Order: sequence, then structure tokens, then C-alpha cells
Amino acid sequence: MHILLAVSGGIAAYKSAELVRLLRKKGAAVRVVMTRSAMQFVSPLTFQALSGNPVHTELLDADAENAMGHISLARWADRIIIAPATADTIAKLSHGLADDLLTTIYLAATCPVYVAPAMNQAMWHKPVTQENINRLIAHGVTTIGPGQGDQACGETGYGRMSEPAEICERLLGRPSEQCLRNRKVLISAGPTREPLDPVRYITNRSSGKMGYALARAALKAGARVTLVSGPVALAPPVNVDVINVETAAQMHEAVISRAEAHDIYIGAAAVADYTPAEVQPEKIKKQDEQVTILLQKTRDILAEVAQLPNRPFTVGFAAETHELETYALGKLTGKNLDLIAANWVGRDQGGFDSEQNALRVFWPTGRQTLAMTDKSHLAEQLISLIAKRCDEKNTA
Ligand code: PMT
Repeated sequence: MHILLAVSGGIAAYKSAELVRLLRKKGAAVRVVMTRSAMQFVSPLTFQALSGNPVHTELLDADAENAMGHISLARWADRIIIAPATADTIAKLSHGLADDLLTTIYLAATCPVYVAPAMNQAMWHKPVTQENINRLIAHGVTTIGPGQGDQACGETGYGRMSEPAEICERLLGRPSEQCLRNRKVLISAGPTREPLDPVRYITNRSSGKMGYALARAALKAGARVTLVSGPVALAPPVNVDVINVETAAQMHEAVISRAEAHDIYIGAAAVADYTPAEVQPEKIKKQDEQVTILLQKTRDILAEVAQLPNRPFTVGFAAETHELETYALGKLTGKNLDLIAANWVGRDQGGFDSEQNALRVFWPTGRQTLAMTDKSHLAEQLISLIAKRCDEKNTA
């Protein structure tokens, strides 16, 4: 396997030296590209010694162009990993800028590209960085991390580059099989918004990240994917049919009218269980000390999908703050599901709006735990489990 490691300028660049060592130990051939600022953190000589190849640093180097220019390097690579990927590099890549060797190789690449972001937690959470990374993801780039924890700047939070061992494992793992080839998959994602009046609504903390990651993973696995999305701030995945909705009633209509034309339904959306019984036509005025809002139960989309005469393989989620297994198993049988993926919510790690998540997956005859990892990786694991269970059900 030919791995092209592109190092941009962050303190985590030192970890990439270990990544080269691990990749070579596993038998990969490694070539390294460095940006100018990366060279301020680690010397090219370090990467040259570890990779056994000259390090590429200049876009317009006459010798290098004769030997291995950006096009040849892009062609040589089976996989490209940008580690660390700084906020600046992610911004450039997401906008198609190509003013140095790293960015030019990215544009010329046709192989799978991975990025391992590394930056201060506030920079990571800045909306513009999130927009940039989401745009890259929507264009098929796979993210590895970032992880959570103490940062070189003294702060704590998301933004730590993933550990070299994890990056190595993800890069050299078997390419995801086309386990959903010729299948049609319908996925719901994000929150719903239940209006109270023309300016207010009730909603929840779902960001849509889990459902969008599932849509990308299903697409990668060869499926034709329809994504019914509540209001989120994520870029729509390329090559996925996205239906935007706002309320639980709209999501119900969008899902139920399409479900029977799909082989698999995955309900990852956090659908409101209750909606205001009446929507006030005018803004509710501030008058009394207390107001009472009457809420009406919404229709259970997932349970209704499972009751359709030509039901797809039906997968639910369970988001719980306590007694995860008991409630998940109750939903699996109560809603007559084929499989349920249960996650903790309201904790420090995982669940709503987090970059990472962990799942306990149950089906009528078994169970499996998927450990805490970034949502794109988790989604790939869940999709392959769903494909396996679905095949087994169809051949039973
Ligand atoms: O979006 P993220 O920020 O990435 O967060 C991901 C997530 C935590 C939202 C996701 O992993 C998750 O758990 N989604 C389901 C959330 C939820 O509403 O769980 P629940 O236990 O309340 O509902 C159980 C199942 O019934 C879910 O599949 C839900 O989609 C479905 N449901 C619920 C109510 C309703 N009226 N209709 C439904 O279809």
C-alpha cells in the first residue's frame, strides 16, 4: 500500500513521525510532503530517515517536477493522509485553493483522502472551521478525529490530533466493502422544530452529525441514499438525495411516503415526542408570571415504518440518560424493529452534537458494542453490521 503523508504546520507534527514508523512497520511504502510551516516544527530529515524517501516540500522545484511532481505524487498514492491538518489547511482544501504542494496534490488526487485535524479547541468549534470541515466531508474526505483532551496550548477539549496508532489502523484497514451495493437506504437525521408561534419553537440538541455520517457511510458502501433531514448546519453529502423538513409531522410525511420504496430505514433523527397542541398565529406576549403550553404527542415515525405492509429492514436509535439497555430493548420489541443502536446522551462524551459516539447495538438474536470513536468511523461500523443483519434476514 502506498501512503502519502502530508504534514501541515502544527505542534502535532511530531506525532506524524511516529505515524510514519508505524505505517512502515505494517509494510506500507510512505512518502512525505511538508508545508513550509510544518518544517518549523519538525525537520524534513526526520521524515526522510523514517520514510526512507526524500521529503517533498516545494510545488515549483524543477528537479522534483522531473522526478515526482504533484501529479505523480497524487497518482503514486493509494491513500493520502493529511496529519496534522491545521485550520488553515482545512480552509484551503475546502475552498479548492492550490498554492502549495500539499493543496495541489489534494486537487490532483483520485484516491481516498483522510484528514486528521489538530488545533486549539476554540478554533475547532469556530463555525467557519466547522463549515470548512463539513464541506470537505461532503466531498468525500474522511476525517480521523480530532480527539478530546489536554491540548498543547493548555486548554482542554476537542482538537487533539488522533493518536498515530488509531490513524495507522484506519488507513490500513480493509477498504469498506460495497456491502450495500444495489440497496436503497432511507435515513432520518437531525432534530425537528415544533413551532409555538411565528418566532419560537421547541427543539433538541441533535446536530445531525450521526445521521449524516450514516448517509455517507451507506453511500460509500454502494447504496443509493435518501436523507430526510431536520434543520442542521451541515453541508448536504454529495450524491445523496436530501429532503429538508422542519417539523415532526413533515418528517413523518417525508419518511412514510418513501419507506416502502427503500430496502433499509435508519431512524437517527431526534424527532420531537411532543408538539404544541396549537400554534399561535401571533407572537405570544409576555404577560403572566407563568404560562402553560399544552403539548400533543407526535406520531411515531419509526413504529409506523415497522408496521408498513412492505416494510424495509427497520433500524431505530435509542437516546437515553439512564437504563440504556432496558429502554433500548423495550424499543426494539415494542416498536417491532430489526435492530436498534443505543447511545448515552447528556454525558461528557458522545451523544448529541459530539464529534464522537459509542453504540450498543441490539437485535432480536444478538448484540454488539461499538466503542467510542468519531461518528464517521462509527457509522461505517454500524452500516456494515446493518448490511450483515439485513442479508441474514433476507436469506433466512
Ligand atoms: O445528531 P447528533 O448531534 O449527531 O446526535 C446523534 C443522536 C444522539 C441524535 C442519535 O445518535 C440518536 O440517538 N438519535 C435518536 C434520538 C431519539 O430521538 O431517540 P429516542 O430514544 O427518543 O427515539 C427512539 C427512536 O424513535 C429513534 O430512532 C427516533 O428517530 C424514533 N422516533 C421518535 C419519536 C417519533 N415521534 N418518531 C420517531 O421515529
